[in-house]
Amino acid sequence: MSESKMSEWKTVTVDLDGSVAVVTLNRPHKRNAMSPQLHIDMSDVLEKLRYDTASKVLVITGAGESFCAGMDLKEFFVELKDNPAEFDRIYRMATEWRYRTLRYYPKPTICMVNGYCFGGAFTVVEACDLAYVAKEATLGLSEINFKHYPGGSVSKSLANLLRPRDALFLAMTGRTFKGDRAAEIGFVNAAYPAADLRREVMAIAHEIAQKDPDALQACKEGYRFSLEMSAEASMNFTAAKSDQLTMRQKDSWRSEGIGDFLSGKYRPGLGGHEQAAKPSS
Ligand code: COA
Repeated sequence: MSESKMSEWKTVTVDLDGSVAVVTLNRPHKRNAMSPQLHIDMSDVLEKLRYDTASKVLVITGAGESFCAGMDLKEFFVELKDNPAEFDRIYRMATEWRYRTLRYYPKPTICMVNGYCFGGAFTVVEACDLAYVAKEATLGLSEINFKHYPGGSVSKSLANLLRPRDALFLAMTGRTFKGDRAAEIGFVNAAYPAADLRREVMAIAHEIAQKDPDALQACKEGYRFSLEMSAEASMNFTAAKSDQLTMRQKDSWRSEGIGDFLSGKYRPGLGGHEQAAKPSS
């Protein structure tokens, strides 16, 4: 397994574990609250990893015992109050990387919620394709407790993912909840004891990293864009997407994927195409 570190950013680190890039929000002294610099750094990280050929899957997590304490209340909301141009620039960037870039990222993304997760951090969890949480983690929409509400892209993220009763209860009370509950309401895929979280998440990430990258991209885009389309438009879109996939893969889903099944090398119902590449014992 190859391991390497990219450390060119002030508030984010990236470690390559085989073909999985682990992106760590790295302001543990501020519980990884999203400062303007962190938004600048994350925008750049996602741009670099998009074209990085070594990484096939992204895992996003937080340094120390917090995942992310939401927007940096001081550096963003207070210190930029009298600088509307800079506030707007950072606001746009903050919305862009979380709501759009991450949501439609060409590579699979997994959120690993290792600890505190508040407010604006919900958008990161929601925009990732998959999410896992430490059972011991504390989560909450605390905005109502400082006389505000889940603004920016948080409202839309809640509407995308949660049932209306859960979303409004959490937003209107600001009550905290634990990782187990986050899994029960479908905010994440599953909750694991903190001690097991990384091992479990990395196993899933490595499993997905072995799949065909073009098929994964088509899988994400077929699902995400279909959510926004009529049924007819979606059928038309996915038909065109299949042609795109065939072109990108030079038809290998048919020749190798189905071909290896027909020649008896593997059974797709019992595992991925990577099984066909393994030497038979
Ligand atoms: N914005 C700015 N600074 C933050 C922050 C945030 N969202 N969350 C934590 N910090 C800072 C604290 O001000 C403190 O800074 P200091 O050491 O310079 O005083 C430092 O991070 C550590 O925070 P602290 O509260 O001492 O840590 P804790 O472990 O006792 O509590 C939290 C952690 C996350 C429960 C608590 O910091 C908190 O409630 N943060 C706000 C969460 C929130 O409401 N986010 C929604 C934003 S939209």
